[in-house]
Amino acid sequence: MSDEDLIRTGKSSKILSVVCVVTVLIGCVIFVGLVTVQTLYLSKRIRQSGIIFPNPPYTKDSDCLHFLVIGDFGRGNEMQKQVAQSMGDYCQQHDGCDFVIGTGDNIYPDGVKSINDEQFKSKFEDIYTHPSLNQLDFYMVLGNHDYRSNPQAEIEYSKMSTRWKLLDYFYELKKKSRLGGFELNLIFTDTTPFHRLFYWDPKINSTALNEQKKRIPEQMKWLRQTLTSHEPRGDSTWSIVVGHSAVYSASSHYDSQPLIDNFEPLFKQFQVPLYLCGHDHYLGWLANRLITNEKEKTQYVVSGAAGGNIYDRLKYNANLLNYYIGPGGFFSVEVQKELIFVRALDENGKEIFKFRIDK
Ligand SMILES: *[C@@H]1O[C@H](CO)[C@@H](O)[C@H](O)[C@H]1NC(C)=O
Repeated sequence: MSDEDLIRTGKSSKILSVVCVVTVLIGCVIFVGLVTVQTLYLSKRIRQSGIIFPNPPYTKDSDCLHFLVIGDFGRGNEMQKQVAQSMGDYCQQHDGCDFVIGTGDNIYPDGVKSINDEQFKSKFEDIYTHPSLNQLDFYMVLGNHDYRSNPQAEIEYSKMSTRWKLLDYFYELKKKSRLGGFELNLIFTDTTPFHRLFYWDPKINSTALNEQKKRIPEQMKWLRQTLTSHEPRGDSTWSIVVGHSAVYSASSHYDSQPLIDNFEPLFKQFQVPLYLCGHDHYLGWLANRLITNEKEKTQYVVSGAAGGNIYDRLKYNANLLNYYIGPGGFFSVEVQKELIFVRALDENGKEIFKFRIDK
């Protein structure tokens, strides 16, 4: 190499490093910009929710089923108590409630040891004591935290309690409307065995989780049969599916590929109107924006705020329609023969957003 060549090489490596630094800097600026835009976009969205989603028309029908949805509640803390108080007040002010649905993580942080575990009292029985709640059945599913210690005991406790109804790992329940004009089928699924991540949890009861993992084909067959036998949007029937994990999510857990693969095609085929879940600690409403036929579109409700411990920031998700970030809250669902009316309520029972599903 001549001296000239060496000088040229030196020059080009200097240029190269300048280009590298500039590229990295531009990358950083773009990244910070995107994060800012996302945060601003989300906060703008919640402020403008009334504009983007005008209040849907609603007329009270006495032939209905009215229930509340709570998730991630079993902490025994002040926020759980406050939400419980607001739930009771809400039922009292709205012509009573028929039952409550729990979307899992019923006992934090490590589930229960046995059917005699003291936590059933301190994190459930002693909390939902409001006169408008203390006669209601609480239908529940297992969350990943309930899979720590002894999930079977949470199922067996249903025989001892007058209100705790965790009837099986997966089960269905038919409810006649107040005046008998339609029937609602509630389908309770077991989503924890679908997710690989939970097998890594050192506190998980891996015996129990592996047993239920083997039953996934059975559960899927049962889900299909249940949806086949009971038209989710029939003339006088509705079906709603409940699970712990979200299908779509704007929290750090994000979308669940196993549930998108296993649940969503069935929901679309059978026109399931609503899926209720928890796991993510906020109140959310999502729907797959790529499905344009309203009847094939499932509305996804995330109710994971009945015990506080809220996330302070969400991830951008194009399927997110509205949300509320804590400190706590729950949902009210009113089913009528021709429509389902869903309301998100904060820790004081104040309405945050609402939407309507038509048959
Ligand atoms: C794990 O779950 C099984 C039920 O599948 C139960 O028999 C066993 O006692 C549980 N283990 C613990 C430590 O609770």
